Amino acid sequence: MSRSLWWDTARLPARVPPVAAAGDFDVAVLGGGITGLTTALLLRRAGARVAVVEAGRVGSGATGSSTAKVTALQATMCSTIRSQRGPEAAAAYAAVCADAVERVAALAAEERIECALRRRPACTYAADAAETEAIDAEAAAAREAGLPVELDRAAGLPFPVAGAVRLADQIEFQPVEYAAGLASALRDDGCAVFEDTRALDVRQGAPCEVVTTGGTVRAERVVVATHYPVLDRGLYFPRLEAERSYCVAARVGPHEPLPLAINVRAPKRSLRSAGEAVVVCGESHPTGSPAGRPPYAALEEFARRHWPVEEITHRWSAQDPTAYDRFPMVGPYLPGSTRLFVATGFMKWGLCGGTAAAALLADRLTGTPGPEAEPFDPGRVSPRSAGRLAKMNAGVGVAFVGDRLTAGEVGSVEQVPLGAARVVRAGTDLTGVYRDEDGCAHAVSLRCTHLGCLLRFNDDERSWDCPCHGSRFDVDGTVLEGPAVRPLPRKEPER
Ligand SMILES: Cc1cc2nc3c(=O)[nH]c(=O)nc-3n(C[C@H](O)[C@H](O)[C@H](O)COP(=O)(O)OP(=O)(O)OC[C@H]3O[C@@H](n4cnc5c(N)ncnc54)[C@H](O)[C@@H]3O)c2cc1C
Ligand code: FES
Repeated sequence: MSRSLWWDTARLPARVPPVAAAGDFDVAVLGGGITGLTTALLLRRAGARVAVVEAGRVGSGATGSSTAKVTALQATMCSTIRSQRGPEAAAAYAAVCADAVERVAALAAEERIECALRRRPACTYAADAAETEAIDAEAAAAREAGLPVELDRAAGLPFPVAGAVRLADQIEFQPVEYAAGLASALRDDGCAVFEDTRALDVRQGAPCEVVTTGGTVRAERVVVATHYPVLDRGLYFPRLEAERSYCVAARVGPHEPLPLAINVRAPKRSLRSAGEAVVVCGESHPTGSPAGRPPYAALEEFARRHWPVEEITHRWSAQDPTAYDRFPMVGPYLPGSTRLFVATGFMKWGLCGGTAAAALLADRLTGTPGPEAEPFDPGRVSPRSAGRLAKMNAGVGVAFVGDRLTAGEVGSVEQVPLGAARVVRAGTDLTGVYRDEDGCAHAVSLRCTHLGCLLRFNDDERSWDCPCHGSRFDVDGTVLEGPAVRPLPRKEPER
C-alpha cells in the first residue's frame, strides 16, 4: 500500500492506546480528517462536550494524502461554480474559502500546532495558449466573487506558461501534523478522540446512538464527516462521485519554493514544494474504473521533464467525492434533520472546503449567525446538473451486474500470477484472488459490502475498488475507505 510523503515524515505524538468508545456527549463527530477535527474543535470552543470517532488514525484519510495546499484559488472553481450555479453561489463559496484559509492559520497559531505552515502564492496557470481563455474567465469570476486575484504572464514555475491567475498569501502545510495537532488540542481540552474505531450505524433518537466497532457512543447530535457519508440514508450515494488521483514526491535538491500551482485542463498537474522535493499530483479517474495510463509513470515523466530529479521518494494516491452539481454538501443529513448533519463533496479542495464546512456546521449547531448556508444545503435540487446526475448513475447498474471484469478471469488459484489479482468464478459466485510475492493466495468475495456492486482490482494501489460509490478494500478484505463499513467476506481459495 502506498504511503504519502506527509505520513512518512510527520512528527507525531505517541499513539493513544485504543479505549472503549462509550460515553454521553453533546456532539459526536464521525471522521477524524480536517473536516471532522475542525468541526469538533470549533464546537468544543463553543462549550460543547464532543467526541470524535475515527476508523483509523486521525488524518489517515484524504487529508493525509492530499497535495496539502490550503487556498481559496482552486484551479477554475469560481468560473465553474458561476456557470453551474450562478454568481451568488460563486461568491458564497469564495467567501467561506477565504475565511477558511485564515482559520487554518489562526488555529495552527492558537493551538501551537507545528505543521510547517507557510504562506505561499497560489496560481492557476495556462499550460498553453488554448488554456488562456479559461485563465481570463477564472480571473474575472474570482474578482467578481471577491478574491483579490491578479493576472500574470508568468507563474513562478521553472518552465514557460501561457499565463496565470494568482492569489497571494495562501497556505502550504504538513496535513498529518496539522490533523494530529487538532486532535491533541481536543484531547487537551477534555474531548474524546476514539481512534481505530469505525462507526457502523447511527440510531437516531434523543440522544442518538452511534454504534461503533468499539462500543456505543451517545450524543444529542451527530456530524457525519467520514468523507463519503457512511449512513445508508439521504440518497447521497447516487449524488456523489469519487475520483482517485495520484501523487509523487521527487527529490530535486535546493530550489526556489514553488507557488501552489495547478493548470487548467487535463492532464492536470497540481504542484508544490516540500523542502528539497517537488510534489506532483494528477492523473485522475473515477474510483473503480481503470486509469487511462500508468499514473505514477506519467507523473514521474512530468517531474523529470521539468526538474533534475535525483529520486522519486514517494508515490501515493487518494480520492475525493464530488457532488453531481459540483458544490459541497454541508448541513442537515436529511431535510429537516435537527440531530444528524453531514459535510462532504469537496471536489479535491477539502482542506479549504472542509475547514469552511466545519465553520458552517459549528455556526449552525451553536445557533451563531454566520455566512449564508443555503447554497451548501445537501437537500438542494440543481436542475441544470440533471444530465450529469443521470450520467453518473448510468454506470452503476453495469457495475452491479458486472459484465466487465478488470482483473482477468482464471479457472483456478494456481493460474493467478505472483503479485497479481484475478477473478475465479464458481457458478455465479465470483471470488477475487490476489497472490502475494510468496505465493500466498488472499481470496475475498467480490461483492462490495456497501450495496453489492462488483469490485475491480487497482493494480497501482493493490486494492479492490468499487466503481459505484468508491469503497476500497485491502486484498484481505479490510475496509480501506467507505462508504462500506464492513470487510469483504474471506473465501477459501479453490484450487
Ligand atoms: C490527490 C489529492 C490531492 C488533494 N489535494 C488537496 C489540496 O492540496 N488542497 C485541498 O484543499 N484539498 C485537497 N484535496 C482534497 C482533500 O484532501 C479532501 O477534500 C479533504 O482532505 C477531505 O477531508 P475530510 O476530513 O472531509 O475527509 P478525510 O480526510 O478523508 O477524513 C475522513 C475520515 O473519516 C474516517 N472514516 C471513514 N469512515 C469512517 C467510519 N465509518 N467511522 C469512523 N471514521 C470513518 C476516515 O478514516 C478518515 O480519516 C486533495 C484530494 C486528493 C484526492
Ligand atoms: S461503494 Fe456502494 S456498492 Fe460499493
